[in-house]
Amino acid sequence: MKVKYFDLINKKIFISGGADGIGSSIVEHFCEQGAEVIFIDINKKKAKELIKNIKKKKFKLPKFFKCNVLNIKKLQKIIHEYGPFDTLVNNAGNDQRHSINEITQKYFKNRFDTNLKHYFFSAKAVKKGMIKNNGGSIINLSSICWIRGAPGFILYSSAKSAIFGLTRSLARELGKYNIRVNSVSPGSIATERQVKLWLKPKLKKEIKSLQSLNKQLMPKDVSNMVLYLASDASSGCTKQNFIVDAGIT
Ligand SMILES: NC(=O)c1ccc[n+]([C@@H]2O[C@H](COP(=O)([O-])OP(=O)(O)OC[C@H]3O[C@@H](n4cnc5c(N)ncnc54)[C@H](O)[C@@H]3O)[C@@H](O)[C@H]2O)c1
Repeated sequence: MKVKYFDLINKKIFISGGADGIGSSIVEHFCEQGAEVIFIDINKKKAKELIKNIKKKKFKLPKFFKCNVLNIKKLQKIIHEYGPFDTLVNNAGNDQRHSINEITQKYFKNRFDTNLKHYFFSAKAVKKGMIKNNGGSIINLSSICWIRGAPGFILYSSAKSAIFGLTRSLARELGKYNIRVNSVSPGSIATERQVKLWLKPKLKKEIKSLQSLNKQLMPKDVSNMVLYLASDASSGCTKQNFIVDAGIT
């Protein structure tokens, strides 16, 4: 189903981790709406493929910068140089599996830097421009894994739950500037990486049997929620967590 949000035309959107998976779908959906998209990623090859595909579809072309979210200085420089932004989508993350015994202090820090730290510093960087614009929307990709207590990636799950707290407190702090802050928590989404590494037929079947809806969720199911939260259609929504999991939790 296609929805047109007229207020998103020419709106400036910053997206992290936009080259692949859910992020690439978010980039494409905003481009389709006619928004001015700037996205960053470490994967230049995937970013190029995405832009080629967007060009083919004749959507508005996004701008890409190669940037690792661990490099906060570079990330903030891009935001300051190309802002002010109307919407920030904090999406980049990594759900690499790890057992409790494998976790060192260095790995602990790396997981939190990869999955949480840049969310805060990107929000801090867009704040000034959003205040100047009299408002904005910050959308933080979390996950349902921490609600379900999913095993196998305790640090990822901990960082994802921290995004919930970050979202709620930021919403309180920035609400007076008409900046809305929400999180989106996907369930099992069939991205290329998930299908390649974990989402095999047996697991797919198991997940479906736990969901209320009998279908495999796709990246577009998440993008549709992100578009809604960026648009004024959700003008009354802030400090909330929007779950897109086909009713598994
Ligand atoms: N796919 C799912 O089932 C699922 C479920 C719950 C939550 N999520 C969340 O959705 C978001 C997107 O996940 P996804 O499944 O699309 O992941 P993905 O691995 O398919 O894509 C992530 C993108 O982020 C980029 N990225 C990773 N580390 C980076 C770094 N250090 N700097 C810059 N870019 C980096 C990758 O290159 C890739 O383009 C994440 O926040 C993830 O936690 C996904």
